[in-house]
Amino acid sequence: MNKHVSKLQTKVPSSVPINPPRRIKSGLRRTGGSTRRQFLKRFGLGVVAGGIPILSGLDDACSATAQKTTGRKVKYRVLGKTGLRISEIGFGGHSWAYKQVPDGQGGYRRPTIDEAVRMIAAGLDMGVNFLDSCTALVESSVPGEALKRLKARDKVIVSVRVSHKMKGIKADKQEIYKWTEDRLKLWQTDYVDICLLCNTENDTPQSGYWDMSYSIEALDKLKQQGKIRFTGFGCHFTPELFLEAFEKFGNYFDICSIPYNVRHRAAEKLLPAAKKKGLGVITIKPFVRGALLKNRDLKGTDAGLPRDLIAFVLENKLVDICTCGVHTIKQLRENLSASWTKLSPGRRERIEKLAGTGIPGREYAWLEQGWRYA
Ligand SMILES: NC(=O)c1ccc[n+]([C@@H]2O[C@H](COP(=O)([O-])OP(=O)(O)OC[C@H]3O[C@@H](n4cnc5c(N)ncnc54)[C@H](OP(=O)(O)O)[C@@H]3O)[C@@H](O)[C@H]2O)c1
Repeated sequence: MNKHVSKLQTKVPSSVPINPPRRIKSGLRRTGGSTRRQFLKRFGLGVVAGGIPILSGLDDACSATAQKTTGRKVKYRVLGKTGLRISEIGFGGHSWAYKQVPDGQGGYRRPTIDEAVRMIAAGLDMGVNFLDSCTALVESSVPGEALKRLKARDKVIVSVRVSHKMKGIKADKQEIYKWTEDRLKLWQTDYVDICLLCNTENDTPQSGYWDMSYSIEALDKLKQQGKIRFTGFGCHFTPELFLEAFEKFGNYFDICSIPYNVRHRAAEKLLPAAKKKGLGVITIKPFVRGALLKNRDLKGTDAGLPRDLIAFVLENKLVDICTCGVHTIKQLRENLSASWTKLSPGRRERIEKLAGTGIPGREYAWLEQGWRYA
């Protein structure tokens, strides 16, 4: 076993959020050695009195809500048996993959690298230390380049998802090696902190479920090589198949990744079983990929809705981190404010009403079937 892993599993770091393998050169010294003001300035984030970072150009001006939240830091939790100290809200990889930023010509485009640098810098400044990436290559290449420019690789926990059509065949090992190597290159690093196995319902007839024992052999080898530190799985499983996976493979894995939002609450039944195995819990889809926020008056009567939807997830103490996709610094600041904004009874009522709203679209079918629970 990788010696860095065993060290971390027995000790929860208190002052340093993560503890990268020693052979990896740290970019922390230069970033950590400069002042926060210098760090922000370098990436176009000005600083006003009170330490509030402001955007000097690109994507958006701060809303009143966002202004109020700056200067605050997100809280941390411990990611299950990994012992990692993780920010309770993290960056989702889909942020970089989808064309969601208005292009000024009536269409949409992806965030640019410059925008990613600014968003990630603002997130780090507010305490975020977790970056996820799913299957699309751009989900690794954009944050990889951003971390390089920020010299911040060693400040964050990098998580990749290794997805492929395994179907329980032995050849899947070669695919895991290839997927991991490709992502190491894109992240411009020689190790990632977390490698999550990931499959969708299109990959196997059984809601993405497969015999993970073949995959485990490959993950062990990657651990021995120091290329990955911790492992987990996060797939389009039904709730029942998640329970089966915890039972069969929960002793081996460190982490599971589960969808959880005010509408899809089956996770509430699953999390006690995950915690029994000591698994760290990374939740995804707090807004059902934005569907819970569509056609809302977020500047008026529905202001604060994204924050409340995340606060709802964080109220569950079995959750270690809520990962969300963001496309602007304004969204980032609003979402992170969930870390210090308690859900009031009135706002809880508002989001519970929202949970009854129909979510059209085939792409959410797997979440709709069997995931609702109240
Ligand atoms: N297969 C897997 O294992 C898997 C699957 C799904 C997700 N994930 C991970 O989980 C992460 C989160 O899931 P997700 O991105 O699907 O869903 P999500 O976090 O529920 O929704 C993200 C979308 O919500 C909107 N949004 C976020 N903050 C907002 C705000 N303050 N105001 C208004 N709109 C806001 C953005 O859409 P607009 O740009 O339209 O505003 C954004 O694209 C992903 O990024 C990915 O890392 C993994």
